[in-house]
Amino acid sequence: MKAELPIVLDRASPVPLAAQLAGRLREAILEGTLRPEHTLPASRRLADELGVSRGVVVRAYEQISGEGYLESRGSAGTRVAVRLDGYGTPAPKAAPKPASPPKAMIDLTPGRPSGEPFRDREWRAAWRKAIAEPVQIQPPPASGMPALRAALARHLGASRGLTVDAADIVITAGTSDALQLIVTALRSTAGAPRVFVEDPGYPTARRVLKAAGALVEAIPVGEDGTKVRRLNALRSRPDAILLTPSHQYPLGGRMPVQERLALLEWAERNHVTVLEDDYDSEFRHTRMPLPALASLPSNAEVVLIGSFSKTLSPWLRCGYLVVRGAAGERIKRAREELDTPVSGILQSALANYVDGGGLARHIARARRQYAHRRALMIDRLGARDDLKLAALDGGLHAIVRLDGSVDARAVVEEALKHDVCVVALEGYFAEAAPENGLVIGYGAPSDLQLARALDIITAIIDRKANGAIA
Ligand SMILES: Cc1ncc(COP(=O)(O)O)c(C=O)c1O
Repeated sequence: MKAELPIVLDRASPVPLAAQLAGRLREAILEGTLRPEHTLPASRRLADELGVSRGVVVRAYEQISGEGYLESRGSAGTRVAVRLDGYGTPAPKAAPKPASPPKAMIDLTPGRPSGEPFRDREWRAAWRKAIAEPVQIQPPPASGMPALRAALARHLGASRGLTVDAADIVITAGTSDALQLIVTALRSTAGAPRVFVEDPGYPTARRVLKAAGALVEAIPVGEDGTKVRRLNALRSRPDAILLTPSHQYPLGGRMPVQERLALLEWAERNHVTVLEDDYDSEFRHTRMPLPALASLPSNAEVVLIGSFSKTLSPWLRCGYLVVRGAAGERIKRAREELDTPVSGILQSALANYVDGGGLARHIARARRQYAHRRALMIDRLGARDDLKLAALDGGLHAIVRLDGSVDARAVVEEALKHDVCVVALEGYFAEAAPENGLVIGYGAPSDLQLARALDIITAIIDRKANGAIA
Protein backbone atom coordinates (compact mmCIF):
# COMPACT_ATOMS: atom_id res chain seq x y z
CA MET A 1 0.00 0.00 0.00
CA LYS A 2 1.43 3.39 -0.98
CA ALA A 3 1.59 5.92 1.86
CA GLU A 4 -0.02 9.36 1.50
CA LEU A 5 2.20 11.87 3.24
CA PRO A 6 0.73 15.31 3.96
CA ILE A 7 4.11 16.78 4.90
CA VAL A 8 4.91 20.48 5.08
CA LEU A 9 8.47 21.62 5.66
CA ASP A 10 9.33 25.01 7.14
CA ARG A 11 12.03 26.58 4.99
CA ALA A 12 12.43 29.52 7.40
CA SER A 13 13.25 27.20 10.29
CA PRO A 14 16.88 26.83 11.42
CA VAL A 15 16.27 23.06 11.63
CA PRO A 16 17.79 21.37 8.54
CA LEU A 17 15.18 20.11 6.04
CA ALA A 18 16.35 16.48 6.36
CA ALA A 19 15.93 16.63 10.16
CA GLN A 20 12.45 18.20 9.76
CA LEU A 21 11.41 15.50 7.31
CA ALA A 22 12.79 12.73 9.56
CA GLY A 23 10.83 14.27 12.46
CA ARG A 24 7.54 14.41 10.46
CA LEU A 25 7.94 10.78 9.31
CA ARG A 26 8.72 9.64 12.85
CA GLU A 27 5.63 11.45 14.17
CA ALA A 28 3.45 9.90 11.45
CA ILE A 29 4.69 6.43 12.41
CA LEU A 30 4.21 7.01 16.11
CA GLU A 31 0.69 8.42 15.55
CA GLY A 32 -0.19 5.36 13.45
CA THR A 33 -0.77 7.36 10.23
CA LEU A 34 2.06 5.37 8.69
CA ARG A 35 1.84 1.66 9.37
CA PRO A 36 3.82 -1.49 8.49
CA GLU A 37 1.70 -2.19 5.41
CA HIS A 38 2.75 1.18 3.98
CA THR A 39 5.49 1.59 1.38
CA LEU A 40 7.08 5.02 1.35
CA PRO A 41 7.39 6.96 -1.91
CA ALA A 42 10.68 6.59 -3.77
CA SER A 43 13.12 9.28 -2.63
CA ARG A 44 13.11 11.00 -6.03
CA ARG A 45 9.29 11.20 -6.14
CA LEU A 46 8.99 12.53 -2.58
CA ALA A 47 11.78 15.03 -3.26
CA ASP A 48 9.83 16.30 -6.32
CA GLU A 49 6.60 16.53 -4.31
CA LEU A 50 8.25 18.46 -1.48
CA GLY A 51 10.39 20.61 -3.78
CA VAL A 52 13.63 19.59 -2.06
CA SER A 53 16.75 17.86 -3.32
CA ARG A 54 16.77 14.05 -3.34
CA GLY A 55 19.67 14.11 -0.84
CA VAL A 56 17.33 15.65 1.79
CA VAL A 57 14.91 12.71 1.47
CA VAL A 58 17.70 10.13 1.36
CA ARG A 59 19.25 11.55 4.57
CA ALA A 60 15.86 11.58 6.32
CA TYR A 61 15.12 7.96 5.26
CA GLU A 62 18.60 6.89 6.36
CA GLN A 63 18.21 8.62 9.70
CA ILE A 64 14.95 6.97 10.66
CA SER A 65 15.92 3.63 9.10
CA GLY A 66 18.90 3.68 11.45
CA GLU A 67 16.51 4.33 14.32
CA GLY A 68 14.58 1.20 13.30
CA TYR A 69 11.36 2.88 12.07
CA LEU A 70 11.86 1.98 8.39
CA GLU A 71 13.32 -0.94 6.51
CA SER A 72 14.59 -0.95 2.97
CA ARG A 73 13.42 -3.89 0.83
CA GLY A 74 15.58 -3.19 -2.21
CA SER A 75 13.48 -2.81 -5.36
CA ALA A 76 10.26 -3.38 -3.32
CA GLY A 77 10.82 0.04 -1.72
CA THR A 78 11.11 1.34 1.84
CA ARG A 79 8.53 0.18 4.37
CA VAL A 80 7.50 1.12 7.87
CA ALA A 81 9.14 -1.39 10.22
CA VAL A 82 7.52 -0.48 13.52
CA ARG A 83 4.40 -2.12 14.95
CA LEU A 84 3.00 0.39 17.36
CA ASP A 85 1.28 -2.23 19.44
CA GLY A 86 4.74 -3.60 20.21
CA TYR A 87 5.71 -0.30 21.81
CA GLY A 88 2.75 0.47 24.02
CA THR A 89 0.64 2.67 21.69
CA PRO A 90 -2.69 1.13 20.66
CA ALA A 91 -3.05 0.13 17.00
CA PRO A 92 -5.84 1.94 15.12
CA LYS A 93 -9.25 0.33 15.87
CA ALA A 94 -10.06 -0.53 12.26
CA ALA A 95 -6.87 -2.52 11.78
CA PRO A 96 -7.11 -6.28 12.33
CA LYS A 97 -5.30 -7.35 15.47
CA PRO A 98 -1.89 -8.55 14.36
CA ALA A 99 -0.53 -11.76 15.86
CA SER A 100 2.04 -10.81 18.49
CA PRO A 101 5.47 -11.03 16.84
CA PRO A 102 7.86 -13.67 18.18
CA LYS A 103 10.16 -12.21 20.79
CA ALA A 104 13.45 -11.50 19.06
CA MET A 105 16.73 -11.43 20.93
CA ILE A 106 18.39 -8.01 21.00
CA ASP A 107 22.03 -8.73 20.31
CA LEU A 108 24.50 -6.34 21.93
CA THR A 109 27.50 -8.63 21.38
CA PRO A 110 30.41 -6.31 20.53
CA GLY A 111 31.87 -6.35 17.05
CA ARG A 112 28.61 -6.87 15.16
CA PRO A 113 28.08 -4.15 12.55
CA SER A 114 24.78 -2.95 11.10
CA GLY A 115 23.22 -5.23 8.47
CA GLU A 116 22.72 -2.33 6.07
CA PRO A 117 25.41 -3.08 3.44
CA PHE A 118 23.56 -6.10 2.11
CA ARG A 119 20.54 -3.90 1.37
CA ASP A 120 22.72 -1.34 -0.41
CA ARG A 121 21.95 -0.93 -4.13
CA GLU A 122 25.63 -0.40 -4.88
CA TRP A 123 26.53 -3.66 -3.12
CA ARG A 124 24.07 -5.59 -5.28
CA ALA A 125 25.32 -3.84 -8.42
CA ALA A 126 28.91 -4.77 -7.49
CA TRP A 127 27.86 -8.44 -7.30
CA ARG A 128 25.90 -8.30 -10.57
CA LYS A 129 28.99 -6.91 -12.28
CA ALA A 130 31.19 -9.63 -10.71
CA ILE A 131 28.82 -12.36 -11.86
CA ALA A 132 28.81 -10.98 -15.42
CA GLU A 133 32.60 -11.23 -15.67
CA PRO A 134 34.03 -14.20 -17.62
CA VAL A 135 34.23 -17.36 -15.49
CA GLN A 136 37.80 -18.26 -14.50
CA ILE A 137 38.88 -21.85 -14.35
CA GLN A 138 41.89 -21.39 -12.10
CA PRO A 139 41.85 -20.30 -8.44
CA PRO A 140 42.57 -16.63 -7.68
CA PRO A 141 46.22 -15.64 -7.02
CA ALA A 142 47.38 -16.59 -3.53
CA SER A 143 47.95 -12.99 -2.35
CA GLY A 144 44.64 -11.82 -3.78
CA MET A 145 43.23 -10.51 -7.04
CA PRO A 146 45.14 -7.54 -8.45
CA ALA A 147 41.89 -5.53 -8.88
CA LEU A 148 40.98 -5.82 -5.18
CA ARG A 149 44.54 -5.15 -4.00
CA ALA A 150 44.72 -2.02 -6.16
CA ALA A 151 41.25 -0.83 -5.05
CA LEU A 152 42.23 -1.33 -1.40
CA ALA A 153 45.54 0.49 -1.86
CA ARG A 154 43.61 3.53 -3.14
CA HIS A 155 40.97 3.21 -0.42
CA LEU A 156 43.56 3.02 2.39
CA GLY A 157 45.31 6.07 0.95
CA ALA A 158 42.10 8.10 0.98
CA SER A 159 40.62 6.82 4.24
CA ARG A 160 43.68 6.12 6.38
CA GLY A 161 46.39 8.30 4.83
CA LEU A 162 48.47 5.20 4.13
CA THR A 163 50.80 5.22 1.15
CA VAL A 164 50.41 1.63 0.06
CA ASP A 165 51.38 -0.16 -3.11
CA ALA A 166 48.97 -2.86 -4.35
CA ALA A 167 51.92 -5.28 -4.11
CA ASP A 168 52.06 -4.60 -0.32
CA ILE A 169 48.55 -6.01 0.16
CA VAL A 170 47.68 -9.63 0.89
CA ILE A 171 44.00 -10.59 0.88
CA THR A 172 42.92 -12.75 3.82
CA ALA A 173 39.75 -14.40 5.05
CA GLY A 174 39.66 -11.93 7.98
CA THR A 175 41.73 -11.34 11.10
CA SER A 176 41.60 -14.92 12.38
CA ASP A 177 42.93 -16.18 9.05
CA ALA A 178 45.55 -13.41 9.02
CA LEU A 179 46.83 -14.50 12.44
CA GLN A 180 47.15 -18.14 11.33
CA LEU A 181 49.01 -17.00 8.24
CA ILE A 182 51.37 -14.83 10.29
CA VAL A 183 52.13 -17.66 12.74
CA THR A 184 52.88 -19.95 9.77
CA ALA A 185 55.23 -17.30 8.38
CA LEU A 186 56.96 -16.82 11.76
CA ARG A 187 57.37 -20.58 12.14
CA SER A 188 59.28 -20.71 8.88
CA THR A 189 62.31 -19.09 10.53
CA ALA A 190 62.10 -20.52 14.06
CA GLY A 191 60.14 -23.01 16.14
CA ALA A 192 56.91 -22.01 17.88
CA PRO A 193 56.90 -18.19 17.80
CA ARG A 194 56.34 -16.19 20.98
CA VAL A 195 53.60 -13.62 20.54
CA PHE A 196 52.73 -10.95 23.12
CA VAL A 197 49.08 -9.88 23.21
CA GLU A 198 47.30 -7.15 25.17
CA ASP A 199 45.56 -8.00 28.44
CA PRO A 200 42.65 -7.22 28.31
CA GLY A 201 42.42 -8.02 24.63
CA TYR A 202 40.60 -9.83 21.85
CA PRO A 203 39.88 -13.36 23.16
CA THR A 204 39.50 -14.82 19.66
CA ALA A 205 42.99 -13.64 18.75
CA ARG A 206 44.47 -15.35 21.83
CA ARG A 207 42.65 -18.56 20.95
CA VAL A 208 43.56 -18.53 17.24
CA LEU A 209 47.23 -17.72 17.86
CA LYS A 210 47.50 -20.61 20.31
CA ALA A 211 45.66 -23.00 18.00
CA ALA A 212 48.06 -22.05 15.18
CA GLY A 213 51.00 -23.03 17.37
CA ALA A 214 52.21 -19.73 18.87
CA LEU A 215 53.30 -19.35 22.49
CA VAL A 216 51.03 -16.53 23.64
CA GLU A 217 51.86 -14.22 26.55
CA ALA A 218 49.35 -11.65 27.80
CA ILE A 219 50.90 -8.28 28.73
CA PRO A 220 48.81 -6.10 31.07
CA VAL A 221 47.82 -2.83 29.40
CA GLY A 222 45.83 0.23 30.40
CA GLU A 223 43.20 2.14 28.50
CA ASP A 224 45.74 3.65 26.08
CA GLY A 225 47.38 0.33 25.28
CA THR A 226 50.84 -1.08 25.78
CA LYS A 227 53.40 1.06 27.60
CA VAL A 228 56.88 0.76 26.17
CA ARG A 229 58.52 1.19 29.58
CA ARG A 230 56.69 -1.97 30.63
CA LEU A 231 58.02 -3.83 27.59
CA ASN A 232 61.53 -2.57 28.32
CA ALA A 233 61.28 -3.92 31.86
CA LEU A 234 60.53 -7.45 30.60
CA ARG A 235 63.55 -9.70 30.46
CA SER A 236 62.35 -11.66 27.46
CA ARG A 237 61.40 -10.45 24.02
CA PRO A 238 58.78 -11.97 21.71
CA ASP A 239 58.93 -12.67 17.98
CA ALA A 240 55.81 -10.59 17.47
CA ILE A 241 53.43 -8.35 19.42
CA LEU A 242 49.73 -7.92 18.59
CA LEU A 243 48.35 -4.47 19.39
CA THR A 244 45.21 -2.38 18.86
CA PRO A 245 46.82 1.11 18.97
CA SER A 246 43.97 2.98 17.28
CA HIS A 247 41.28 1.74 19.67
CA GLN A 248 42.46 -0.51 22.47
CA TYR A 249 40.20 -3.55 22.44
CA PRO A 250 38.03 -3.47 24.45
CA LEU A 251 38.94 -0.54 26.75
CA GLY A 252 38.79 2.00 23.92
CA GLY A 253 41.81 4.30 24.44
CA ARG A 254 44.37 5.11 21.79
CA MET A 255 48.13 4.94 21.92
CA PRO A 256 49.63 8.46 21.86
CA VAL A 257 51.97 9.27 18.96
CA GLN A 258 55.01 9.55 21.25
CA GLU A 259 54.32 6.08 22.61
CA ARG A 260 53.88 4.75 19.04
CA LEU A 261 57.30 6.05 18.06
CA ALA A 262 58.88 4.56 21.20
CA LEU A 263 57.20 1.24 20.49
CA LEU A 264 58.56 1.16 16.93
CA GLU A 265 62.02 1.97 18.25
CA TRP A 266 61.73 -0.90 20.80
CA ALA A 267 60.48 -3.29 18.09
CA GLU A 268 63.32 -2.40 15.73
CA ARG A 269 65.96 -2.72 18.46
CA ASN A 270 64.61 -6.13 19.58
CA HIS A 271 63.69 -7.49 16.12
CA VAL A 272 60.02 -7.84 17.05
CA THR A 273 57.36 -7.88 14.32
CA VAL A 274 54.53 -5.50 15.23
CA LEU A 275 51.05 -6.78 14.33
CA GLU A 276 48.76 -3.73 14.19
CA ASP A 277 45.11 -4.80 14.44
CA ASP A 278 43.38 -1.81 12.81
CA TYR A 279 39.92 -3.31 13.28
CA ASP A 280 37.62 -0.28 13.48
CA SER A 281 39.60 2.91 12.85
CA GLU A 282 37.05 3.99 10.20
CA PHE A 283 34.56 4.75 12.94
CA ARG A 284 35.87 7.75 14.91
CA HIS A 285 33.17 9.78 16.65
CA THR A 286 35.10 12.52 18.39
CA ARG A 287 38.71 12.88 17.31
CA MET A 288 40.58 12.22 14.08
CA PRO A 289 42.29 8.80 13.99
CA LEU A 290 46.01 8.88 14.77
CA PRO A 291 48.39 7.74 12.01
CA ALA A 292 48.71 3.97 11.75
CA LEU A 293 51.95 2.48 13.11
CA ALA A 294 52.41 1.12 9.58
CA SER A 295 52.58 4.70 8.25
CA LEU A 296 55.17 6.07 10.71
CA PRO A 297 58.84 6.40 9.72
CA SER A 298 60.67 3.38 11.15
CA ASN A 299 62.70 0.37 10.14
CA ALA A 300 60.63 -1.87 12.43
CA GLU A 301 58.65 -4.62 10.73
CA VAL A 302 54.98 -3.67 10.98
CA VAL A 303 52.11 -5.71 9.59
CA LEU A 304 48.76 -3.90 9.45
CA ILE A 305 45.80 -6.24 9.85
CA GLY A 306 42.57 -4.95 8.31
CA SER A 307 39.18 -6.61 8.07
CA PHE A 308 35.86 -6.04 6.31
CA SER A 309 34.15 -7.50 9.38
CA LYS A 310 33.34 -4.08 10.93
CA THR A 311 33.12 -1.94 7.80
CA LEU A 312 30.85 -4.47 6.06
CA SER A 313 30.17 -7.75 7.83
CA PRO A 314 31.90 -10.74 9.46
CA TRP A 315 29.60 -12.83 7.26
CA LEU A 316 31.98 -12.10 4.34
CA ARG A 317 35.08 -13.54 6.02
CA CYS A 318 37.38 -11.20 4.17
CA GLY A 319 40.18 -8.88 5.20
CA TYR A 320 43.67 -7.84 4.18
CA LEU A 321 47.21 -7.31 5.39
CA VAL A 322 49.55 -4.46 4.55
CA VAL A 323 52.98 -6.04 4.59
CA ARG A 324 56.47 -4.79 3.78
CA GLY A 325 60.11 -5.84 4.06
CA ALA A 326 61.35 -9.27 5.04
CA ALA A 327 58.27 -10.04 7.17
CA GLY A 328 56.12 -9.21 4.15
CA GLU A 329 58.07 -11.60 1.93
CA ARG A 330 57.74 -14.40 4.49
CA ILE A 331 53.99 -13.81 4.78
CA LYS A 332 53.53 -13.84 1.00
CA ARG A 333 55.51 -17.08 0.77
CA ALA A 334 53.38 -18.63 3.52
CA ARG A 335 50.26 -17.54 1.61
CA GLU A 336 51.58 -19.26 -1.52
CA GLU A 337 52.17 -22.42 0.48
CA LEU A 338 48.79 -22.37 2.22
CA ASP A 339 46.88 -21.16 -0.88
CA THR A 340 44.18 -18.50 -0.77
CA PRO A 341 41.04 -19.14 1.29
CA VAL A 342 39.10 -16.26 -0.34
CA SER A 343 36.76 -16.87 -3.29
CA GLY A 344 37.50 -15.05 -6.55
CA ILE A 345 33.92 -13.94 -7.05
CA LEU A 346 33.82 -12.32 -3.59
CA GLN A 347 37.10 -10.55 -4.34
CA SER A 348 35.72 -9.31 -7.67
CA ALA A 349 32.52 -8.00 -6.09
CA LEU A 350 34.48 -6.30 -3.31
CA ALA A 351 36.85 -4.72 -5.83
CA ASN A 352 33.85 -3.30 -7.74
CA TYR A 353 32.26 -2.02 -4.53
CA VAL A 354 35.46 -0.41 -3.18
CA ASP A 355 36.44 1.07 -6.54
CA GLY A 356 33.00 2.49 -7.29
CA GLY A 357 33.04 4.36 -3.96
CA GLY A 358 30.26 2.17 -2.49
CA LEU A 359 32.36 1.16 0.51
CA ALA A 360 33.32 4.75 1.37
CA ARG A 361 29.66 5.83 1.12
CA HIS A 362 28.54 2.88 3.22
CA ILE A 363 31.15 3.72 5.89
CA ALA A 364 29.97 7.36 5.96
CA ARG A 365 26.33 6.25 6.42
CA ALA A 366 27.25 3.68 9.07
CA ARG A 367 29.35 6.28 10.91
CA ARG A 368 26.29 8.56 11.16
CA GLN A 369 24.16 5.68 12.47
CA TYR A 370 26.76 4.64 15.04
CA ALA A 371 27.26 8.23 16.15
CA HIS A 372 23.52 8.44 16.74
CA ARG A 373 23.49 5.26 18.83
CA ARG A 374 26.53 6.42 20.76
CA ALA A 375 24.60 9.62 21.60
CA LEU A 376 21.72 7.42 22.73
CA MET A 377 24.04 5.50 25.07
CA ILE A 378 25.29 8.75 26.58
CA ASP A 379 21.75 10.05 26.87
CA ARG A 380 20.49 6.91 28.67
CA LEU A 381 23.50 6.06 30.83
CA GLY A 382 25.75 9.12 31.00
CA ALA A 383 24.04 10.83 33.93
CA ARG A 384 24.02 7.85 36.30
CA ASP A 385 26.46 8.01 39.21
CA ASP A 386 26.64 4.23 39.61
CA LEU A 387 27.83 3.58 36.02
CA LYS A 388 30.93 4.77 34.21
CA LEU A 389 30.72 4.91 30.44
CA ALA A 390 33.95 4.51 28.48
CA ALA A 391 35.37 3.59 25.04
CA LEU A 392 33.05 6.05 23.33
CA ASP A 393 35.56 7.87 21.13
CA GLY A 394 35.02 5.48 18.27
CA GLY A 395 34.06 2.04 17.11
CA LEU A 396 30.92 0.04 17.63
CA HIS A 397 30.98 -0.70 21.32
CA ALA A 398 31.10 1.01 24.71
CA ILE A 399 32.19 -0.10 28.16
CA VAL A 400 29.87 0.32 31.12
CA ARG A 401 31.77 -0.05 34.40
CA LEU A 402 29.61 -1.03 37.37
CA ASP A 403 30.22 -0.12 40.98
CA GLY A 404 30.96 -2.91 43.44
CA SER A 405 27.33 -3.39 44.50
CA VAL A 406 26.30 -5.18 41.28
CA ASP A 407 28.09 -8.13 39.66
CA ALA A 408 28.24 -7.73 35.86
CA ARG A 409 27.98 -11.51 35.34
CA ALA A 410 24.65 -11.58 37.18
CA VAL A 411 23.40 -8.70 34.98
CA VAL A 412 24.41 -10.65 31.84
CA GLU A 413 22.55 -13.74 33.05
CA GLU A 414 19.41 -11.81 33.97
CA ALA A 415 19.45 -9.80 30.72
CA LEU A 416 19.42 -13.07 28.73
CA LYS A 417 16.17 -14.03 30.44
CA HIS A 418 14.76 -10.78 29.02
CA ASP A 419 16.06 -11.57 25.50
CA VAL A 420 19.00 -9.18 25.65
CA CYS A 421 22.43 -10.60 24.86
CA VAL A 422 25.25 -8.54 26.40
CA VAL A 423 28.72 -9.61 27.53
CA ALA A 424 30.78 -9.04 30.68
CA LEU A 425 34.08 -7.16 30.51
CA GLU A 426 35.67 -9.91 32.59
CA GLY A 427 35.92 -12.29 29.58
CA TYR A 428 38.46 -10.02 27.84
CA PHE A 429 41.06 -10.42 30.60
CA ALA A 430 43.51 -13.30 30.31
CA GLU A 431 45.58 -13.05 33.51
CA ALA A 432 45.24 -9.48 34.75
CA ALA A 433 42.63 -8.88 37.49
CA PRO A 434 39.32 -8.48 35.64
CA GLU A 435 37.17 -5.36 35.89
CA ASN A 436 33.48 -5.41 36.75
CA GLY A 437 31.58 -4.10 33.75
CA LEU A 438 29.66 -4.74 30.55
CA VAL A 439 30.76 -4.42 26.94
CA ILE A 440 27.85 -3.14 24.88
CA GLY A 441 27.97 -3.47 21.09
CA TYR A 442 25.73 -0.88 19.48
CA GLY A 443 26.47 -1.63 15.80
CA ALA A 444 23.80 -4.21 15.07
CA PRO A 445 20.62 -3.17 16.95
CA SER A 446 18.33 -0.41 15.70
CA ASP A 447 18.00 2.70 17.87
CA LEU A 448 14.67 1.44 19.20
CA GLN A 449 16.13 -1.96 20.09
CA LEU A 450 19.14 -0.35 21.73
CA ALA A 451 16.94 1.99 23.79
CA ARG A 452 14.77 -0.93 24.86
CA ALA A 453 17.81 -3.08 25.75
CA LEU A 454 19.35 -0.25 27.81
CA ASP A 455 16.05 0.18 29.69
CA ILE A 456 16.07 -3.55 30.48
CA ILE A 457 19.73 -3.52 31.57
CA THR A 458 19.38 -0.44 33.77
CA ALA A 459 16.22 -1.86 35.38
CA ILE A 460 18.16 -5.06 36.18
CA ILE A 461 21.06 -3.05 37.64
CA ASP A 462 18.64 -1.01 39.77
CA ARG A 463 16.86 -4.11 41.05
CA LYS A 464 20.16 -5.82 41.85
CA ALA A 465 21.55 -2.74 43.58
CA ASN A 466 18.41 -2.65 45.72
CA GLY A 467 18.81 -6.34 46.51
CA ALA A 468 15.48 -7.30 44.87
CA ILE A 469 17.06 -10.14 42.88
CA ALA A 470 19.12 -12.68 44.76
C1 LIG B 1 39.77 -6.62 18.10
C2 LIG B 1 39.21 -7.22 16.85
N1 LIG B 1 39.99 -7.36 15.79
C3 LIG B 1 39.53 -7.90 14.64
C4 LIG B 1 38.23 -8.30 14.51
C5 LIG B 1 37.75 -8.88 13.20
O1 LIG B 1 37.97 -10.24 13.14
P1 LIG B 1 37.63 -11.06 11.79
O2 LIG B 1 38.22 -10.28 10.65
O3 LIG B 1 38.31 -12.39 11.97
O4 LIG B 1 36.15 -11.16 11.71
C6 LIG B 1 37.37 -8.18 15.58
C7 LIG B 1 35.96 -8.62 15.46
O5 LIG B 1 35.17 -8.61 16.37
C8 LIG B 1 37.86 -7.61 16.78
O6 LIG B 1 37.06 -7.43 17.83
